[in-house]
Amino acid sequence: MIDRATVEKILDAVRIEEVIGDFVSLRKRGANYLGLCPFHQDKNPSMSVSATKGIFKCFACGKAGNAVTFLMEHEHLSYWEALRYLAKKYHIEIVEKEETAEEIASRMRYESLLVVSEYAQKFYADVLWNSEVGKAIGLSYFRERKFSDETIRKFGLGYAASRPLTFSTAALKAGYKKEYLVASGLCLEREGSGELYDRFFDRVMFPIHSISGRVIAFGGRTLKTDKSVAKYVNSPQSEIYDKSRSLYGIFQAKNSIAKADKCILVEGYADVISMHQAGVTNVVASSGTSLTVEQIRLIKRFTEKITIIYDGDEAGIKASLRGIDLVLEEGLSVKVVLLPPEDDPDTFAKSHSLVEIQEYIEENEKDFITYKSELLLKDTERDPVRRSQVIRDIVQSVAVVPDPILRNVYVEMVAEKFEMKPDAIMATIGEFRRKKRALERSRRRFEESSSSAVPGPARNDEPEELIPEDLPDPGTVPPSGPAEAYPLKDGYLAVPERELTYYLVKFGEYPMVFEEDMYYGAEQHDEITVSQYIRDALADDDLVFVNGLYRTIFERYFSFLATLPREDSEVMQQRIIRWFTAGDDPAVARAVLDLILEEHPLTVRTYEESITPEEQALGRTVPKSVLLYKLRITDQQCTATAKEITLTQRGGDQDKLRELVSRLQILNTVKNRLSRELNRL
Ligand code: CTP
Ligand code: MN
Repeated sequence: MIDRATVEKILDAVRIEEVIGDFVSLRKRGANYLGLCPFHQDKNPSMSVSATKGIFKCFACGKAGNAVTFLMEHEHLSYWEALRYLAKKYHIEIVEKEETAEEIASRMRYESLLVVSEYAQKFYADVLWNSEVGKAIGLSYFRERKFSDETIRKFGLGYAASRPLTFSTAALKAGYKKEYLVASGLCLEREGSGELYDRFFDRVMFPIHSISGRVIAFGGRTLKTDKSVAKYVNSPQSEIYDKSRSLYGIFQAKNSIAKADKCILVEGYADVISMHQAGVTNVVASSGTSLTVEQIRLIKRFTEKITIIYDGDEAGIKASLRGIDLVLEEGLSVKVVLLPPEDDPDTFAKSHSLVEIQEYIEENEKDFITYKSELLLKDTERDPVRRSQVIRDIVQSVAVVPDPILRNVYVEMVAEKFEMKPDAIMATIGEFRRKKRALERSRRRFEESSSSAVPGPARNDEPEELIPEDLPDPGTVPPSGPAEAYPLKDGYLAVPERELTYYLVKFGEYPMVFEEDMYYGAEQHDEITVSQYIRDALADDDLVFVNGLYRTIFERYFSFLATLPREDSEVMQQRIIRWFTAGDDPAVARAVLDLILEEHPLTVRTYEESITPEEQALGRTVPKSVLLYKLRITDQQCTATAKEITLTQRGGDQDKLRELVSRLQILNTVKNRLSRELNRL
């Protein structure tokens, strides 16, 4: 145990952003840092880290704490282990105190399971190298598969002899407790007698390592070709092994993955090993499970680029297609390499030199758009029905990409490849994303309704530190004019933000009537309200109003809406307006009053001089307002990027410069598209 003074010293030295920054990439935003929350499946950065307060909080999943609790949760450490970790990181010498019996016991179980696993790994390796059967059967098998001695050692391979009591007997004799042998999955208990026997026998053994190199599980491969014997037996889930969070080879590959800034994903143990032996060391396998979100997030700690090399058979192709969307959805880029049909990564690596392998990957690595279109359009290039199905399929993949800029890059690629208008593709993507969100919303609603009877305001528990410094807490605003309570942050954006807020408070629960509905009939669109439309349109590009007044109204609007029963649009709107204007925040009340008393909002007035009642033109005016807002934002990003380019030109970082220039190009394309759309409306 560590004495009190040392604990204080450690806690004083800790910089939370450095501690969390070792696991999550953090971006500075104001006084705080923002990053992807590692405690839930976070697509957009939701975790805020306050350097000054020394705390983190995820406003999506609610997880919060300090550097120590972060380590405890994230690395599954005990309190004392987390402190030890921090002491090491900050070079603080630990003055040890005797651990109490209780403390030892609590730390023991987890550590014991690891110790048992490590003993098993050594045991199986020892059998492989030093026993007659091990050498005759196991070692000769590996050598037949052309694994070098060095490779066999590097991966800690072993052999489990054919008598199913061999390991159990040895482990018990060496003093390992039955409890841990069973809990680690290495041994099973015979019913009745309670006698132990081995899970693994008559198999070659592949130990599975944690990211820090501890042995946490095994895969055992049979040497029989008999189809009635399972090819692999794997360790079950246990306190130390969660297969959906593990990747085979990650310990051996992690440094090369970071160095190469790329992770190659294969299917099996043998594939990883042969690739490593050939010199391609940034390779891991999801081995046996289909790729999971957690595995992708594990890779994301080291790189944002994944290349999938699966077998060319049907199962492999199917798995690759599934993997693509999952990787894209996590915000990583994905490429696919198809091997010659007779090969898998294992055989390919063995029959080619390092240079040949590298060249093959380089030449055959396809982005997912090319891969999917080639694969799915094979032999049916001319069939128009098939073609449009394939395009839809590809566009659906693009739609899951969370970063709007990247999504735009892909849209341009698809447009060029299939000679289509980007606008049409964007429209389809919007449709996919809206559907997906609607689905997520109803799922959330379902979860909420089944977990709590009273629907609370949706996202009102945002942590205080996420609200920019210059904004007063909305709850304690003194009764003064809106200008003082919520100073304008950005006048340029204030115009469209005000306009969207206008539509929200005045017509939010009215249905949108789209122009084309008049020609094609209303079935064309799902019934959507103005507030849904605006919320979706902003969420599409991860936009949040920058001006505090409008953001506050926006957020309160939806949290109040969540408590209202659905009824007539006008009735609902009246309630909402009454709630706002009678509320205890005078700045907000006055702003809402100003808005609803206004005839037409500023910018659209010039376009809208017809005598059409406003509520009938919403299908055109609201989208227009949204486009105008997005156009201004893009415009601002262009200016900022151009400025950064000028600065970088002076500094001379060529890579960064290239990146900025291509970013500017994309932003300009987006800008042009938005202008085009705006003109069309
Ligand atoms: N796998 C499994 N259980 C099985 C079959 C496969 O867990 N019954 C997992 C293993 O992790 C395996 C991977 O799926 O490594 C890929 O399967 P496969 O290609 O059949 O195995 P390889 O490891 O390539 O084995 P080999 O090359 O020796 O045939
Ligand atoms: Mn194989």
